[in-house]
Amino acid sequence: MFKNTRDRYGLIARLLHWLIAVLAIGMLLGGSLLSILPSGGLKTVAISGHKSIGVIILLLMIGRIAWRRINPQPRDLGSIPVLNYIAHLVHVFLYVLLLLQPLVGILMSQAYGYPVSVFGIFTVPPLVWQSSSLGNFLREAHSVTAVLLAAFIAVHIAAALKHHVVDGDGTLMRMLKG
Ligand code: HEM
Ligand code: HEM
Repeated sequence: MFKNTRDRYGLIARLLHWLIAVLAIGMLLGGSLLSILPSGGLKTVAISGHKSIGVIILLLMIGRIAWRRINPQPRDLGSIPVLNYIAHLVHVFLYVLLLLQPLVGILMSQAYGYPVSVFGIFTVPPLVWQSSSLGNFLREAHSVTAVLLAAFIAVHIAAALKHHVVDGDGTLMRMLKG
């Protein structure tokens, strides 16, 4: 029930998939709103919420990758090998971007000299030196990785819907219901 088999995703993999999916899409939308919010109390609260949830995504991703390593992967249901290969490649990019995006966010904040606290419960230890030019570079990188992440998520969702609607296979349902 909790672990994957060669035929189905277990409860933990499915919960992590959907929790991270909702949080990541929310962070992409919320992050884009940050840049248009006027400076002030609301923006400060929004940025601190964005940073906290971002660190939680990073921790969930580390747990997800560890869980994936000790679980079998369900076999591909698609019948065209090259498309199965591309799907795996998109998953790898999603994993990399979901680690990179929050990590770059943390480094950017710290380079600008702001602490990264997770809802006031704990503070991420300093990982980088303070430098506004490094901060500017990492801010650009945080925008670029956000665009890449959004693009890969769009391709991924389109592919999941194609499996369901066009191919009529169980790829989407096994991520929803196991
Ligand atoms: C998966 C996690 C994350 C996603 C999807 C995400 C996404 C975004 C997006 C789309 C923006 C707007 C970029 C722009 O307008 O060009 C943004 C801005 C920002 N993010 Fe994140 N972010 C994540 C994690 C983090 C983390 C962990 C931190 C810091 C601890 C962080 C700090 C910031 C800050 C400070 C800004 C505002 C930058 C500015 O003033 O332009 N983000 N984020
Ligand atoms: C409506 C939105 C989404 C749908 C319908 C969807 C659907 C699916 C399905 C059906 C699979 C299983 C593929 C297979 O068995 O070969 C899957 C896997 C995956 N999805 Fe999504 N997904 C969605 C959103 C997202 C988002 C937003 C992300 C990233 C934040 C994401 C990241 C992943 C990753 C990394 C895998 C590979 C899991 C693994 O096997 O290790 N998905 N998704």
